[in-house]
Amino acid sequence: MEKNRTTLFDVPVDQLTEEQASSELIELAEIIAEHDRLYYGKDQPGITDADYDALRRRNGAIETSFPHLILPDSPSRRVGTEPAAGFRKIRHAVPMTSLENALTLDQMRKFLDGIRNFILELRNPNVAIELVGEPKIDGLSCSLRYEKGILALGLTRGNGIEGEDVTANVETIKDIPRRLPGKDWPDVLEVRGEVYMSDEDFLRLNEQQEAAGGKPFANPRNAAAGGLRQLDPGVTASRPLRFFAYAWGEVSRPIAQTQWEARRKMKEWGFKLNEPSGLIEVVDSDFATLSGYHENIQVHRSSLGFSVDGVVMKVNRLDWQDRLGFDSRSPRWAIAWKFPPEQALTVIRNIVVQIGRLGRATPVANLVPINVGGVLVSRATLHNRDEMERKDIREDDTVIIQRAGDVIPQVVAVVKDRRPVHSRPYPFPARCPVCGSSLAREEDAAETYCTGGLYCEAQAKERLLHFVSRNSFDIEGLGEKNIRLFFEKGLIRTPVDIFTLEERDRTGDQPLSAWKGWGDTSAHNLFDAINRARAISLDRFIFALGIRQVGEATARLLARHYLTLKNWSRSMESAVDPDSEAREELLSINGIGESMAEDIVSFFRERQNQEVLDKLCSPRIDGEPPVTVRDFEPMTMASPVSGKTVVFTGKMETMSRSEAKARAERMGANVASSVSRKTDYVVTGPGAGSKEKEARKLGLTILSEQEWLDLIGKG
Ligand code: IVH
Repeated sequence: MEKNRTTLFDVPVDQLTEEQASSELIELAEIIAEHDRLYYGKDQPGITDADYDALRRRNGAIETSFPHLILPDSPSRRVGTEPAAGFRKIRHAVPMTSLENALTLDQMRKFLDGIRNFILELRNPNVAIELVGEPKIDGLSCSLRYEKGILALGLTRGNGIEGEDVTANVETIKDIPRRLPGKDWPDVLEVRGEVYMSDEDFLRLNEQQEAAGGKPFANPRNAAAGGLRQLDPGVTASRPLRFFAYAWGEVSRPIAQTQWEARRKMKEWGFKLNEPSGLIEVVDSDFATLSGYHENIQVHRSSLGFSVDGVVMKVNRLDWQDRLGFDSRSPRWAIAWKFPPEQALTVIRNIVVQIGRLGRATPVANLVPINVGGVLVSRATLHNRDEMERKDIREDDTVIIQRAGDVIPQVVAVVKDRRPVHSRPYPFPARCPVCGSSLAREEDAAETYCTGGLYCEAQAKERLLHFVSRNSFDIEGLGEKNIRLFFEKGLIRTPVDIFTLEERDRTGDQPLSAWKGWGDTSAHNLFDAINRARAISLDRFIFALGIRQVGEATARLLARHYLTLKNWSRSMESAVDPDSEAREELLSINGIGESMAEDIVSFFRERQNQEVLDKLCSPRIDGEPPVTVRDFEPMTMASPVSGKTVVFTGKMETMSRSEAKARAERMGANVASSVSRKTDYVVTGPGAGSKEKEARKLGLTILSEQEWLDLIGKG
């Protein structure tokens, strides 16, 4: 290699052997990347522009002659090749989930109890659970895909299922190896971790930003996010971003048997790890080591050099991680143990009442902006009328506010002896400040609601915002600002209007491209984003409807159970009748209780809601419906039980009930909590009672635990 380096560049391209061309391309990629880094990152070019251009030309010439040797990380694919409209979206090979939070030791105890309950061998409290503790860095997560040791793709988390292609950007980050050293890596390896900014770099960047008359970033996390999500990788390169590796996605072969060993591997492959980490053993109810680790990181957090908001605890054994798997949102084998919220004193400028998408009226305090643990805070929620009155919070009060992670800051208490003499309690309005309808309160409930329904512009707007948000239709370019704009112009009032916007724009007399601040490209990009969003999966669609209590997890439960939109909506229309079989079926779904079921059918009771559904999904005169809802596809292997409904009753002997359920779900089965005609299998064990009787009465297939295990095989 060393020998080639000095001589090769002089060989005319048409005389290069394939082998020489290949190694020269590798070298050029490295050299050019290094110069990019010096140029963009440090503002101190290492060579003259002419020499730099010569290197790129040479690279281009070799690639033209040997196109099959073009590297995935070739300089010709980076810098300057700016994508036209936003980032390309790419599906993660393995979804990127986030973590459940714990705020207290008690919640940590519950987390460990859950694990002991799930893995039968761990029911004995004297069997140790080994945990890996790592600092929880506050940045943004990123997945780096290496193919045959070469960085091939960098994705942001996005919505967890689909991320944004930021390959060109991550290539400018120094901590991210472009090729992995050694040979010990699997051919396909996705390393996951956090892109972040160090405290020092953050402060320096903000100084520069302010010196240049720009707005400073609120915190290192925003600065890092802003730096990574740049359409021009040159700008990313100029931001001092770093990377810590802590997890992995797809791997073509297992990389280790424990988390600890996997960390060591990632280190060997050239990644930085977030330290100080710790290997912690928990036996019985002795949590001293566990708490000790948390406390130690908390005490030293300000001197770590990067901002942390807690620690992450992960089960060390990967076979246990595998068995524990994921619930609808996060792994059962890891948890983020957050630090207590940070507090600060400031003054309330005024109080306003905000109306949410379901009409809830929330008092919000506008504050004299204050830095709370590195984040600039200018608003805090007062939750609801009762809470505000109980704490006696008034305008001009000096208050203690606190902020925990991403949660909206809140007012903890009023400093009464700083209250101005003229102070009066805040008169909570009787009418909606937006639409003037009366504000009402359900009996015994703390919340006040605007009775204006969709007539209330605040509610209509908030619902639209929810409809286009990231985990719903995810329409880029239709953020808060634009929804407001189109709403005010009367162009978008209901979800259907979004999908007819382009058509109306074409035939109208004032096309979007002619508006102030818009042009052909931005109009085109917006319509493009809308058109890309027309096809949507059933679970996201249900979530987008914004039914009270129906979050992402519930939407997924419903989608998994009903599979198609038609099936679901028909069944919900019937379920409006509380004595119907459809209602019984809805309630049989594990995770759906009475009050949730009531909210779901209430949605279907409203004529306007049915109309919105209808308009969105039925074909228009010209043939196509505005939106196509894809049937739910379980993300599991084809198995003899996929799509089947199973009920477990009685005691399980070879594994815990939770593990049995999780395994059935992983094999694509629906696990229900009660027996009905739609149940395919009833798995019984000792102590089974009324459910088994019911199953016999209905003539369902009844299996013993062993028969069930034989049926699903080794899944
Ligand atoms: S592990 C499936 N480890 O925190 C588990 N996450 O609140 C994947 N984070 O989305 C995450 N430090 O962006 C893990 N040491 C660490 C972390 C960490 C920070 C972030 C990550 C994740 C979020 C969850």
